[in-house]
Amino acid sequence: MDQVQIKAWIDALGIPALFVADDTRIIAANNLAISVYNVNVVGLIYSAALRQPAAIRATHACLEHHKIQTARIHHTENGTDTAFDLRCAYIDKGLTGVLITLKDRTEEDKNTQLHRDFVANVSHELRTPLTAISGFIETLQGSAKKDEKVLDRFLGMMAGQSARMDRLVSDLLTLSRIDAQERQRPGDSVDLRDLLAKVVDGYTSSKITITTEFLAKEHLVLGDADQLHQVFANLIENAIKYGATGGMITVKSEDIVMDRRLRARSIGVSVCDTGEGIAPLHLPRLTERFYRIDDHRSHDKGGTGLGLAIAKHIVARHRGRLSISSIVSQGSEFKVILPIN
Ligand SMILES: Nc1ncnc2c1ncn2[C@@H]1O[C@H](COP(=O)(O)OP(=O)(O)O)[C@@H](O)[C@H]1O
Ligand SMILES: [Mg+2]
Repeated sequence: MDQVQIKAWIDALGIPALFVADDTRIIAANNLAISVYNVNVVGLIYSAALRQPAAIRATHACLEHHKIQTARIHHTENGTDTAFDLRCAYIDKGLTGVLITLKDRTEEDKNTQLHRDFVANVSHELRTPLTAISGFIETLQGSAKKDEKVLDRFLGMMAGQSARMDRLVSDLLTLSRIDAQERQRPGDSVDLRDLLAKVVDGYTSSKITITTEFLAKEHLVLGDADQLHQVFANLIENAIKYGATGGMITVKSEDIVMDRRLRARSIGVSVCDTGEGIAPLHLPRLTERFYRIDDHRSHDKGGTGLGLAIAKHIVARHRGRLSISSIVSQGSEFKVILPIN
């Protein structure tokens, strides 16, 4: 194989790759590799071009011993970090030398980190009620055992904590179920108007009035009725829990002839409150798992911090989107936009 052929092979690879000949010069590199190093490295000696000690060591060892070498390298460009797995393999036929390939690991690293954070968060969320329950048990084993009033109060608090653990576990199970179904679009025909009327009914009480402004016609979408029920229940519950200070909750639907982002005719369902609103810095993070503006408040109200994460996943499974807007001290609007068909 000559230099031209090597270049053709490297170009076809689809990942950053370069070839270092036995005389230590880089004789071919594809565009992907050139954009990683930000200079045309062809013609340079590898130790000058590769810069990172780990990359240089691996290439050197491969040139010497003709054995596969690997290294993890990092690049920082314009403030973004990219991680690569570098692999050196010796080619001992035709034009001999080291073929270096780079595999971008940034996304995988990010996912691993997210996973770690998630596990840490779950453990923390479970530990809090568990610690409380252990504390109550200890006290009850001690002096409080004979005092019936104390006993009653403690048992009540233990029940509350175990209910909280139960909510957390069932939300986690829901999340993982929806995760598994993400690529599977639901196929039932659901009339959103019926569904919304049912959800709203469930929350209307003597204390809370929810105003509805629905379109006159049916709102048929392809969906999973139980999951959509869960989305709107969470949004209305949130409006009651966090937005009820203003006293007005409105659920309304609209016909969106062409949603620009979904590129489809859609139905929008908004849950609006006239509460204290949400500061802009929180808005993009609200759908993250366990993100709450006020931890204590969410705990006091029995929240798991997973409701909006679940809602976002469900809406994504329906090929729709969730849009959140809010004005501090005026109120918030959570809008679910679902494509028709
Ligand atoms: N209507 C709302 N008004 C103000 N803040 C809200 C509203 N809805 C949600 N939030 C904020 O978003 C957070 C996340 O909501 P969610 O995922 O449903 O968790 P949870 O209800 O269990 O706390 C809440 O803790 C709250 O801080
Ligand atoms: Mg909630």
